[in-house]
Amino acid sequence: MSANKKLLILAGDGIGPEVMTQVGRVTDWMAKKRTVSFDVTEGLVGGACYDAHGSALTDETMADAMSVDAVMLGAVGGPKWDNVAREHRPEAGLLRLRKEMDLYANLRPAIVFDALVEASTLKPEIVQGLDILILRELTAGVYFGEPRGIETLPDGSRRGFDTQVYTDKEIERIARLGFEMAGKRTGRLMSVEKANVMESGVFWREIVSGIAGDYPDVELNHMYADNCAMQLVRNPKQFDVIVTDNLFGDILSDCAAMLTGSLGMLPSASLGEADESGRRRAMYEPVHGSAPDIAGQDLANPIATILSFAMCLRYSFDMSDDADLIEQAVQNVLGAGLRTADIVSDGMTAISTTAMGEAIVAEMEKLTG
Ligand code: IPM
Ligand code: MG
Repeated sequence: MSANKKLLILAGDGIGPEVMTQVGRVTDWMAKKRTVSFDVTEGLVGGACYDAHGSALTDETMADAMSVDAVMLGAVGGPKWDNVAREHRPEAGLLRLRKEMDLYANLRPAIVFDALVEASTLKPEIVQGLDILILRELTAGVYFGEPRGIETLPDGSRRGFDTQVYTDKEIERIARLGFEMAGKRTGRLMSVEKANVMESGVFWREIVSGIAGDYPDVELNHMYADNCAMQLVRNPKQFDVIVTDNLFGDILSDCAAMLTGSLGMLPSASLGEADESGRRRAMYEPVHGSAPDIAGQDLANPIATILSFAMCLRYSFDMSDDADLIEQAVQNVLGAGLRTADIVSDGMTAISTTAMGEAIVAEMEKLTG
């Protein structure tokens, strides 16, 4: 276990600060009741940082992120910054953190809680008991590929372009993690690309297939990304671990999130490579965005962020018992019928962000009391 549990909190924009406040409730409770304290520093990211400093992330905050054990991030972006130059847009701060921390592996688990089966837009029998993991490559592909730009051609016409590019090493390291994770679950790995139209897809498939022999206990299959999107809504339970590139992972994980009833339920962990001591750089964030339309109204669902903190305890601080405790508390609170507006069903009354945070901490207290 890490000696001093250094945590950097970057709440960001929109609903980011209010959902992150609920994580503060959890850490306060842990400091009091579990006698573990976190060495917490806070910083700005996204539009909030742009407004204060003219860029979406300062070098000081970047350096802090490199030195702590884990970063918790709320959300970035909003219409207020729509016309800011791309290199200063709120998203640029998040992408810089991912790239410079080399957080190549993004784990996005989509789990359907029994109490929430009715909240999904899909039929109960399609989603009940769903437990899948999307493993998204996070530091390469078209998000970062060069060249990119918008240019004017000699004839006066203009064009915009991006580059989808993957090296063998970039594919191999995410694929190996996919095999390892599948091996610890039900042993099924689905690799997703567009090998039917993209060279980088053909290459992806070749590299993933090439290392499959190192994992004889894992059954590897391949699927085109468009088919995968369709299969996710047709029969999501056919999947266990899905490993895919940065852009397809972005799209497919939003799709998988909705299977669970709401984007407000999905946590994520972004991990770097392990050093000799097994320590990885890490950042934890909800999959949802900054939801500017409901920001500041105490309406947002804090569960994705609280579950992201549970992932932080599990992966960065080796505190699985406390991660289990948080997850159990969330499950019980939902089981008791408490719902924020995004997951409320007929005949139920929605509670606030604050009330949900308080209820989860009260349940943690009850479970340990
Ligand atoms: C996500 C988000 C980000 C992405 C944005 C905010 C840059 O959609 O984490 O899925 O596209 O990766
Ligand atoms: Mg996304």
